[in-house]
Amino acid sequence: MEDLPPNPLREGLLAARRPEPLTFVLFGGGGDLSHRKIAPALYNLAVDRLLPDQFAVVGVSRQEWDDAAFRKEMAEGIVTNSRRQPVDQTIWSALAEDLHYVSGDFSDPATYRRLGKALADLPAGGNRLYYLATPPQFYGDIVRGIGTIKRGDGFSRVVVEKPFGRDLDSARRLNGAIHQVFAEEEVYRIDHYLGKETVQNVLVFRFANSIFEPVWNRNYIDQVQITAAESIGIESRASYYEGAGAMRDMLQNHILQLLCLTAMEPPGDFSPDAVRDEKVKVLRTIRPVERADMVRGQYTAGWAGGERVPGYRQESGVAPDSGTETMVAARLAVDNWRWQGVPFYVRAGKRFPKRVTEIAVVFRPAPHLPWRGATDELRPNAILIRVQPDEGITLSFGAKVPGQAVRIRSVDMDFVQGTSFTADAPEAYERLLLDAMTGVPTLFTRHDEVETAWSLLAGVLDRNGGPVEPYEAGSWGPPTAEALTARDGRYWRRP
Ligand SMILES: NC(=O)c1ccc[n+]([C@@H]2O[C@H](COP(=O)([O-])OP(=O)(O)OC[C@H]3O[C@@H](n4cnc5c(N)ncnc54)[C@H](OP(=O)(O)O)[C@@H]3O)[C@@H](O)[C@H]2O)c1
Repeated sequence: MEDLPPNPLREGLLAARRPEPLTFVLFGGGGDLSHRKIAPALYNLAVDRLLPDQFAVVGVSRQEWDDAAFRKEMAEGIVTNSRRQPVDQTIWSALAEDLHYVSGDFSDPATYRRLGKALADLPAGGNRLYYLATPPQFYGDIVRGIGTIKRGDGFSRVVVEKPFGRDLDSARRLNGAIHQVFAEEEVYRIDHYLGKETVQNVLVFRFANSIFEPVWNRNYIDQVQITAAESIGIESRASYYEGAGAMRDMLQNHILQLLCLTAMEPPGDFSPDAVRDEKVKVLRTIRPVERADMVRGQYTAGWAGGERVPGYRQESGVAPDSGTETMVAARLAVDNWRWQGVPFYVRAGKRFPKRVTEIAVVFRPAPHLPWRGATDELRPNAILIRVQPDEGITLSFGAKVPGQAVRIRSVDMDFVQGTSFTADAPEAYERLLLDAMTGVPTLFTRHDEVETAWSLLAGVLDRNGGPVEPYEAGSWGPPTAEALTARDGRYWRRP
């Protein structure tokens, strides 16, 4: 039998690499992200024996904690949020010994002097991974502070959380400030969607199989829909969300990343720049979004999970006349040979009827159906990539309903990640932390990628994007969101 060629995607997807000795400096170590995501990710990497032999974590934030208080905080984060329970006390105790803490204000130069001294006393050598899990307004101060203690006897990398800027200008300024201290290869801008298994699977599905790519273009595809729906409101994050809104929180990053993976050309290999070059090429071919192609909505009181919930403007910490959008829907056009004329409808929002993120690739109808009157229940073929929850891929096609008469109905063929693979998938933050520790930036966004994504939204950020329209909590958005597809003779799929 002929040997199969090596799978070019395999290399980047193998995670069984142990990082070199390193110190992980966690700015914002006392915050929500560290508690909910980073502590559990470190613990699960320890369970999988994927942390370096010589390893240290130094948390930095304002609370006046000592090492013991920081360890207690991280332990609580792990017990509450780790995918593996119960927590293995032997593994936790070994990890806890590596956790240290420096208290200080990010805008105070003395914080970095104390940090520099603490780092020098640790045995893990000169390799450093700095993680900015802090409010974004401190990124500049922190990077400058790191500049005062950065050493030359090992690698230095910085992981920057989203949001990366709040428009093109601020993203450029932030890139400029970071590049004063770090070379671009040392910068890891995180978009945690890219660490999700199913998101990585989009590329495998498209480029490790030969049967889908020939039909993955305007000749066969009628439209693409990307939905990122949350049923929750803003919970306790009003101070962040009021300044962000759905466009900055979801559209500029997660949704555009999903679009890039769906629309990009096959890369020559899975090296970081080969993949990111293709993504940037897609972003550059997206037509800048215009107001007429966008709907911004804000939820009012309604129902969620059987309970009455308040409207956005009644949430604690939200201005009573807030103009922040809690949902956004847009019609995007990708101007290249593959996608000309294929609309990409995208939407993201809070207080939608359910939590679901999916990419629906909807095919053109068959050119002729020889069964008159038998196809009322037949929908166009579709490939549905479910990012969360119930990760998997569904192919929807027509089948004959059993019986004497011919009746054709759409049926689903399902790949369900959780049943096809018995291994428990790592969380996105585990995958991305390990990639940053081992120096693999493929799943992180490059400076030109972030800036191009912001430039697409330049004309519609804030009120330029049109008025914010009310929609009832528990609905799919205002009626104008329906009109966005209806005016093209299409409709949103109900996920
Ligand atoms: N939370 C999430 O689920 C999530 C998800 C995706 C991205 N992110 C991003 O991750 C970053 C952190 O978010 P978060 O939710 O963890 O925020 P957070 O809960 O407000 O935590 C921020 C941390 O920074 C510290 N801090 C704030 N100002 C400081 C100062 N001047 N000096 C020293 N320390 C200071 C805080 O200490 P104090 O407690 O003393 O203020 C806290 O430890 C943000 O960029 C956010 O957008 C978060």
